[in-house]
Amino acid sequence: MPTQQKALLLQKKQGDWEVGTVEVPKPGPDQLLVKVEATALNPVDWAIQVHGLFIENFPAVVGFDAAGVVEEVGEDVTGFTPGDKVLFEGSLGNTQATFQQYSLSNADVTAKIPGNITVDQAATIPLCLATAALALFDAGSAGLFPPWEEKGRGKYAGKPIVVFGGATSVGQFAIQLVKLAGFSPIIATASLKNTSLLEAIGVTHVLDRNLSSDVLLAEIMKITAETPVEVVFDAFSRPTPPSALDILAPGGTLVLVQPDPGDLGKEAAAQGKKAVGVYGDVNVPDRRKTRQSLYAKLTALLESGEIKPTRVELLPRGLTGIPGGLKRLENGEASGFKFVVRPQETP
Ligand SMILES: NC(=O)c1ccc[n+]([C@@H]2O[C@H](COP(=O)([O-])OP(=O)(O)OC[C@H]3O[C@@H](n4cnc5c(N)ncnc54)[C@H](OP(=O)(O)O)[C@@H]3O)[C@@H](O)[C@H]2O)c1
Repeated sequence: MPTQQKALLLQKKQGDWEVGTVEVPKPGPDQLLVKVEATALNPVDWAIQVHGLFIENFPAVVGFDAAGVVEEVGEDVTGFTPGDKVLFEGSLGNTQATFQQYSLSNADVTAKIPGNITVDQAATIPLCLATAALALFDAGSAGLFPPWEEKGRGKYAGKPIVVFGGATSVGQFAIQLVKLAGFSPIIATASLKNTSLLEAIGVTHVLDRNLSSDVLLAEIMKITAETPVEVVFDAFSRPTPPSALDILAPGGTLVLVQPDPGDLGKEAAAQGKKAVGVYGDVNVPDRRKTRQSLYAKLTALLESGEIKPTRVELLPRGLTGIPGGLKRLENGEASGFKFVVRPQETP
């Protein structure tokens, strides 16, 4: 077991990325040390660097998605042994970040990867699935009943739902979860080139995300004439389209993928509606119930094919491929797929 490893380091606030060497951390109680074989890139990674968000201590390691092999098991951990293939969500704080070759995961929010999913595919799952799942099904956000729990399948049968930005990774997981929950019709906005991708995971109506607000509203009202829309999920939220609250029935909930709904919360309340946000972090110490229950069922959901990973574009040269990938992500070049790198292939 090496004591040193390669990591992608953010040198200072809004500084450059550079591959360097850091210590391999030791797992504490309830933790696993995982050899990171694949990590995925997320918008928050470039936002941290470009806007100087969240981090005050440098050099810093970031990265929020990992899949790999358990190397060492901490005290009190049950259910995992060295050699298990696992996926987990990384966290702020260098030892649990994923743009490095070894990282620590919290065992209660780590899942084994079933044989039908590659390690590269597994890396696309943690942050975006958690964001969709917590936004829709955690009591701190929309608080719907989770479809992965007993009696959760089909609970919302016959209720329509609208997903803005359906082709985002978060949107694709949200669509799969609301399909399991029984929502129908599932109406999603996206670039029309992603129509077949979205239909394959359960969308019944794909609408061009560039339609004007009026036309979009009219199209959705045509589809949902019989049943009012009680939930709208904005999987992009930068910014939320103006029609979002108009689509919602009185008492309905607009679900955003920002931590705080901001002014939309007040606007919604003034109309007798609700807007909620989400912080898609499964590692926060409090409010662990939904997170643990999702992870307890995740391997089975993947094995059955009820939840499928996002498509992958693999970037070459390990950690050194990340800065270029983040630039492409910032430029909007990831349409319907996730960039993934393999830290062990760092030159
Ligand atoms: N609050 C949290 O904890 C949290 C956690 C994770 C992510 N997020 C946020 O969730 C959002 C999605 O993240 P992601 O990783 O899933 O993104 P992503 O997959 O990288 O997003 C790429 C997709 O965005 C779509 N898109 C681009 N501009 C759009 C617009 N104006 N309206 C609707 N869709 C648009 C594109 O769809 P087309 O190809 O169809 O054009 C593209 O497929 C981001 O805003 C991210 O910051 C929040």
